[in-house]
Amino acid sequence: MTNFYETDRAVSEYLLFHYGDPEEILDHGTGPLDALDYPKRCITELAPVEELKKLGRTLRGLDLGCAVGRSAFEMSVFMDEVIGIDYSYRFAEAAERLKTDQVISYQVRVEGEIIRELEAQRKPEWNPERVKFYQGDAQHLGEAVTGFDLVLMANLIDRLSDPAVAVSDVMSRVNQGGYIIITSPYTWLEEYTPRDKWLGGFLSEESEEKSTFEGLKEIMETDFDLAHRKNLPFMIREHSRKFQWSVAEGTVWKKR
Ligand SMILES: C[S@@+](CC[C@H](N)C(=O)[O-])C[C@H]1O[C@@H](n2cnc3c(N)ncnc32)[C@H](O)[C@@H]1O
Repeated sequence: MTNFYETDRAVSEYLLFHYGDPEEILDHGTGPLDALDYPKRCITELAPVEELKKLGRTLRGLDLGCAVGRSAFEMSVFMDEVIGIDYSYRFAEAAERLKTDQVISYQVRVEGEIIRELEAQRKPEWNPERVKFYQGDAQHLGEAVTGFDLVLMANLIDRLSDPAVAVSDVMSRVNQGGYIIITSPYTWLEEYTPRDKWLGGFLSEESEEKSTFEGLKEIMETDFDLAHRKNLPFMIREHSRKFQWSVAEGTVWKKR
């Protein structure tokens, strides 16, 4: 089966999702403005920047499942080194191209076969020299991928075959006093995650509802404390008149 995240359609939709201006995404002048700029808001609304600065050390960040890179660039505003890793070669390549070329062109669907040419631009407040993008697997990270003060897993956990193992593994790669931000709409699908590996979204053996937040908490609380919890709407445009609107839950965890 083709990996959706390697397709032309995914590259185009994610470049618009990460870098599109409001008028490029909502070109009929109507729509939920508070759902825009999600990859930026995952950092600006959730990263504990002042707490991180107080650590008084070289700050290292990891954006796991970084797609085309926006959140990693936002992390580079206040982190000293940032690594973006995505399983999709084409996503990591697009992110790296924006880093080196400053501007990249891409096409979005307007309706039917009609397309529009757009440009994604690097923003002056980012520090691209601090960011590196790699193709890689969140479930098989190398030993050297470690020692982070801030890790973002945005809309990733419900795309993994064993999220509990992946989250536990990432926890071990965070420095004491560091943070993990996990955002997700908790869209569990057997296509990505076998039913017995879902973190929540099912009835327990006692017929009680188990939420993904509860499942996450059980894993995280072994080593981390919950610092913040917030709803984050986001929207992915399919074409000029069709969108996927979702509400992710963002949780921020601090390592003891
Ligand atoms: C729903 S997208 C979210 C992307 C990005 N974080 C965002 O919020 O826009 C899921 C991303 O996870 C990536 N992904 C899926 N499985 C992965 C894995 N095992 N390791 C690394 N990335 C993975 C996909 O290629 C895709 O970019």
